[in-house]
Amino acid sequence: MVKIIIQGIHGKMGRKLLEMIEQRSDCEVVAGVDKFKAPCVVPVFSSLDECTVSADVMIDFSNPAATDAALSICAAKNLPCVICTTGLSDETLAKLENASKSTAVFKSANMSVGINLLILLAKKANAVLGTDFDIEIIEKHHHNKLDAPSGTALMIADAIKENASGIEYEYVYDRSKVRRKREVKEIGISAVRGGSIVGEHDVMFCGQDEVITLSQSAASRDVFANGAVNAAVYLAGKPAGLYSMEDMLSL
Ligand SMILES: NC(=O)c1ccc[n+]([C@@H]2O[C@H](COP(=O)([O-])OP(=O)(O)OC[C@H]3O[C@@H](n4cnc5c(N)ncnc54)[C@H](O)[C@@H]3O)[C@@H](O)[C@H]2O)c1
Repeated sequence: MVKIIIQGIHGKMGRKLLEMIEQRSDCEVVAGVDKFKAPCVVPVFSSLDECTVSADVMIDFSNPAATDAALSICAAKNLPCVICTTGLSDETLAKLENASKSTAVFKSANMSVGINLLILLAKKANAVLGTDFDIEIIEKHHHNKLDAPSGTALMIADAIKENASGIEYEYVYDRSKVRRKREVKEIGISAVRGGSIVGEHDVMFCGQDEVITLSQSAASRDVFANGAVNAAVYLAGKPAGLYSMEDMLSL
């Protein structure tokens, strides 16, 4: 039985995780971390540092400052962690890399199987279509989302960029400031915020007289929660290192 601590336990994703893990027989939630105080079925601490309950793995769905603080503690305690929080700064990403030298760290800005498959397809599409096709990524999320563009849109763009040969792609988020033609090396990334949209990502490959669009839409947060719990079970007991959905799904 894998013992899990949830950081951000009172948030939308934290509550979903708690609900989902209750239905499973391979893992259990032993404690939570949240700065917000609310009744809970497990002990909740205001920081991971104060948590006195031992566990096999921590799942983090909180905010970048809390993630940053938790990474130091996970590294010091050799507590494997699944980092799902998005909008992490370059400093926190460097800290995450560093923490992975001391403990197992799993990171994905999108825990759904669908998005990770879409990334694989997007890399393949770019390899086949090349620079004859302009790449535009459009992401849509609910009106409470703080970061833009989404961590997932950046994850898709990064994967295409890292996989591309013979071209150094640059990201363009805003076309309102300059008047000039679009360049081939651009990956346009646009964010839409509205209502209760859980998460939609379109990757468009726009060529002469044809457009190919890869699209993924999440209808509920269950797809992320399910991926995060599977990642936690996968990570428990793993040696130090940086792990991804690609490793878990053998993509
Ligand atoms: N990787 C994925 O698949 C995925 C999916 C959904 C959301 N997310 C990301 O996860 C994060 C959380 O999403 P959410 O929708 O649950 O947000 P939310 O705002 O509903 O919940 C965040 C929780 O973290 C707590 N928190 C904030 N600061 C804290 C601190 N310093 N210490 C302890 N707890 C703190 C808040 O009190 C809140 O309960 C966001 O960054 C979001 O973009 C990632």
